[in-house]
Amino acid sequence: MAISFEGKVAIVTGAGGGLGRCHALELGRRGAKVVVNDLGGSLDGSGGSSAAADKVVAEIKAAGGQAIANGASVADPKGAESMVKDALAAYGKVDILINNAGILRDKSFRKVSLEDFELVVDVHLMGAVYCSKAVWPVMEDNGYGRIVMTTSSTGLYGNFGQSNYGAAKLGQVGLMNTLKLEGAKKNIRVNAIAPIAHTRMTEGIGIPEQALGLLKPELVTPAVLYLCSDDAPSGVIIEAGAGYYGRVAIVESKGMKLGQEVSVEQFAENFEAISDLSEAKPYPNGGAITQKALIG
Ligand code: NAI
Repeated sequence: MAISFEGKVAIVTGAGGGLGRCHALELGRRGAKVVVNDLGGSLDGSGGSSAAADKVVAEIKAAGGQAIANGASVADPKGAESMVKDALAAYGKVDILINNAGILRDKSFRKVSLEDFELVVDVHLMGAVYCSKAVWPVMEDNGYGRIVMTTSSTGLYGNFGQSNYGAAKLGQVGLMNTLKLEGAKKNIRVNAIAPIAHTRMTEGIGIPEQALGLLKPELVTPAVLYLCSDDAPSGVIIEAGAGYYGRVAIVESKGMKLGQEVSVEQFAENFEAISDLSEAKPYPNGGAITQKALIG
């Protein structure tokens, strides 16, 4: 069955280029009214204008869709509020938020300045917080909401020279894990995408030209749109790139109870068994683990 976004209002951050542009265009094609946000800066987050967002709005309109541009920064709480205000003024509600905006300031941990670390956290993690927070009461009051976080294999697994980016990206997963619980009663579902795509972000990092050709941003968008559709799951992380799709989960081993008095040596002797992931599984919330620790 065709998946429609007719009547839905979506905000896509960082949608002036790359993956965000693809998500916004496809939402527009499928009937959503789209707020195309983009600061229009360079890859390291400097500079900016609303020209990038304006261009994508023109593309959506040329394809018969409806869209408006917003040139605010996600790293500014007032900027995040302005996206929601613009959406409400133009279209009266917000159904979908795709937290996609991002920058890079790659350096090994020894060399990275705290300023560059904080800037990356501000855009990726706090940006997702500000936008989600601005949209949250609107979604709760409407009894409908879909939020997609954009995480990364760097946050999930690590990547040399990206400590700032990885910390911020996994922070979005932490945010998702609680928002999925808090939103459940109000029909707000929160998921995450870990994309792999050829955009300006992945240029010049040594990926062969042939591989870049396969990493089309358009191949990430189907997963993102499913994750913000009416039938979306909640709390799911999907890795998507080059036509590959997989689900990522945080799992915990079966573990073992060692008793009420445990020595360091005893822990060391049992480390292998404690770490055995063969029966590992995900848990629905933090409380479930406390229960498991107490009761087994
Ligand atoms: P991109 O650089 O083409 O797109 C990011 C967009 O965000 C740009 O248009 C930029 O102007 C905008 N932006 C940056 N800071 C902003 C701010 N403060 N406020 C509003 N807009 C801002 O890169 P790409 O690849 O499309 O990235 C999209 C998202 O996907 C990012 O969050 C990135 O970290 C994530 N990602 C991308 C991967 C890839 O393989 N391309 C891998 C893993 C994650």
